[in-house]
This record gives sequence, C-alpha cells and structure tokens, in this order.
Amino acid sequence: MGYKAKFRVWRGEGGEGQLEDFTVEVNEGEVVLDVIHRLQATQAPDLAVRWNCKAGKCGSCSMEINGKPRLGCMTRMSTFEESETITVTPMRTFPVIKDLVCDVSFNYQKAREIPSFTPPKDVKPGEYRMQQIDVERSQEFRKCIECFMCNNVCHVIRDHDENKPAFAGPRFLMRIAELDMHPYDEVDRKDAAQEEHGLGYCNITKCCTEVCPEHIKITDNALIPMKERVVDRKYDPLVWLGSKIFKR
Ligand code: SF4
Ligand code: F3S
Ligand code: FES
Repeated sequence: MGYKAKFRVWRGEGGEGQLEDFTVEVNEGEVVLDVIHRLQATQAPDLAVRWNCKAGKCGSCSMEINGKPRLGCMTRMSTFEESETITVTPMRTFPVIKDLVCDVSFNYQKAREIPSFTPPKDVKPGEYRMQQIDVERSQEFRKCIECFMCNNVCHVIRDHDENKPAFAGPRFLMRIAELDMHPYDEVDRKDAAQEEHGLGYCNITKCCTEVCPEHIKITDNALIPMKERVVDRKYDPLVWLGSKIFKR
C-alpha cells in the first residue's frame, strides 16, 4: 500500500545550503532512490543526485540517510516507519557540488598515488601460477564498487580536511594491502603504507567495515594484517634485513 513519506533533503551548492522538507508518495517495494527520483519528477526538477545502475553495483548513489552512509538504491523504504522523517544529505567528507552530489576526486587522487601491480619482468601474462588461497584472499577486496562510503565515514578525515594529504583512507589502504599480499607483486609496499599513505592514522575503529555495502572485512582482512606486516618489519631485524636483501 502506498503512503506519503516525509523527506528532509539537503539543497545547496557552492558551500551554502539548507535542509528542505518535502512530502512524497511512496509505493510498495520502493527504495530511497526511487523516492528521490519521484521528488525530482514532481516537485524539485533541479535536485541533483548521482546514480547509474540502481542495483548496488556502480557505487554512484552514496549518500547519508538519517546520518548513516548508505546506497540510496539499496535502502528499502520498508526499513523506516511510515511516520518517520527521512533525512537525506550528501556524503560529509567530500565537498558538495550541488544538493546530494559530492566531488569525490580526493579518492581518485589517492588511487593515482599507489604504484600499480608490478609483476616480475620475465613472467608473461598467462604464465602466472598462484595458490587458490592467494586468489581468494584478494578476490574479497576486488568486490569493491568504489562507493567511497568507507572513506567518507572514517573519522581520520571525516571532520579533518587537514589529514587528507597524508591519509589514503580505508579503500586505498585496502588496495595497498591487496597488492602487498599478491605473490607476483614486486613493489615493497610496507614502508610506503606507513609513511606515505597514513596506515598509522588508522586506529581500527572498524566504521569503514560497518558501512561497506559489499560486506568486505576491510579492517580485519586488509588493514590489520597490513599493520602486522609493517610491525614485523619494524621490530624484527632479521625480517627487515631479509626484506632489504631479497626484496620479496
Ligand atoms: Fe565502498 Fe566497500 Fe569499496 Fe569502501 S571498500 S569503497 S565501502 S565497496
Ligand atoms: Fe578508519 Fe576503518 Fe581504520 S574507519 S580508523 S580506516 S578501521
Ligand atoms: Fe549504482 Fe546505487 S545506483 S549503486
């Protein structure tokens, strides 16, 4: 059965804006993004919202719903009381372009700072032979849809723009960990993770893991093991010496 929902939506651009109240029709089976689209179609034609797949796979429709980072297309209206006012705001960690659309270029900048996968020169594509366990380990991280909700929620940068230059955020620390675990990657990533990408800023609050729509165990499976490898390097002189001589 349809009903009328109360929506409070952030409207604004250029660093200025305010929450605006709307009453919008909701039909059975709809998600928050459906209601935002109805709002666009019926009351606010200039409302900016980013989306693409409507299937939880493109990572475009990240927003904050009642203060929590969520994908608009995967958040069912049935999870709210009909009487509830649903507040929809843009991700807080990135500058707002307009309404619900953020400038997420910080994330692409961080992606570019990580050296890409570097296999040995004498092993050609098609000749890689890996243990299944090594394949499965990185498979989990490859599920990332780059919604950037983990980077958005991490307290290190959420209200601290000053930390952004030194911190890659969970999404890209996970990428470094993934490459570091790859048996064919030849780049030594441990010192850089700590010194250039800010692994030490992470104090394992696990907020990133909690919001990940792909249920990737970012903290337990990527960040903590990476921290352990960095610490092993630092405090075990033989490991350190071996790493310098053999370079993995
Ligand atoms: Fe989104 Fe999860 Fe990827 Fe972070 S790790 S960008 S939360 S899919
Ligand atoms: Fe931030 Fe995740 Fe670490 S939220 S502090 S990167 S565990
Ligand atoms: Fe693609 Fe929501 S529109 S993840």
